[in-house]
Amino acid sequence: MEQGLSGAKYFNVNISHLLSQDFDITFKIYCYPAKPRDGAPILLFGENTPSRKIKITLGKRKFGPLYVKEKDYYLYLQFVEDQVRLFIEDDLVPIKKKAEVLYNSAKETIKNIFDHPRSGNNLKRVQSTVNSIVTFSLKNHDAIANLLRLTSYDYYTFTHCVNVAIFGLGFKQTVGYKSEEELREFTLGCICHDIGKTRISERILKKKEKLTNEEFHMIKVHPRHGFVLMKGMIPDCSLDIILHHHEKIDGSGYPDQLMGDDISENTKMAAICDVYDALTTKRCYAEARSPFHGIKLMKDEMPGHFDPDLLERFILFLRGD
Ligand SMILES: [Fe+2]
Ligand SMILES: [Fe+2]
Repeated sequence: MEQGLSGAKYFNVNISHLLSQDFDITFKIYCYPAKPRDGAPILLFGENTPSRKIKITLGKRKFGPLYVKEKDYYLYLQFVEDQVRLFIEDDLVPIKKKAEVLYNSAKETIKNIFDHPRSGNNLKRVQSTVNSIVTFSLKNHDAIANLLRLTSYDYYTFTHCVNVAIFGLGFKQTVGYKSEEELREFTLGCICHDIGKTRISERILKKKEKLTNEEFHMIKVHPRHGFVLMKGMIPDCSLDIILHHHEKIDGSGYPDQLMGDDISENTKMAAICDVYDALTTKRCYAEARSPFHGIKLMKDEMPGHFDPDLLERFILFLRGD
């Protein structure tokens, strides 16, 4: 959020992932003049500007971040939600394009909730994106494969969360589920699993050198931070994934040293997706491992960490069996 000289508040927005669709915006969009970058943002697009025109203008030169006024922010959120929903319901849009819009929309919404984890609006958007992804995956046979193709190989906490949600959703569909609601709650837990990291300093999260004991201890509190942040805001099943995704079946995990079946099946599944994605994406202190090496490491060098049956089923899921 930024504040102009007049005292009006402006919120950073992004509609670039939607611009391949035809629509007219329902709010005003502002940007800062090239220089000097002081005073209030200036009007760039008025209400009812067509997406075609926005695309052409933004393609001509770089405008920097775009903003809406605080009073229009809710309108903007609602608009994006509606556009994504319309987009995935449109039979004329190719599945690959739908996957792209959903993946980018998930990245955008999870980034927002990481900035303001207690915002009800941000949570509503994450839930809406999760619902769209689940609906998309249930209606299209190749949905998960198309989404998996997009998962980022560079590690950022928010892309990692989106990746874990996609791996999780695909994995859960192969293991079995009772209802669409169960799938939604599971995916929501996966996408929010590391939200407690918003309470840990970037310096520690991005440190290349070995962490001190004290720093490691601070990182290990993130499931509890996440639990406290989200308690009462999301279903218990989603909350359990946030609190227990670092538990290991031999009881050596944290924060509660749960063992075996004291860890729910959903959380065991999320834990597998979490570690797999962390191993196969590029970290500030390690190169990305290939899928083969990631799985080999999980099987051979992490005994007691994962439910062996679920790990086997995860391998089958990755192979597409
Ligand atoms: Fe975590
Ligand atoms: Fe994680």
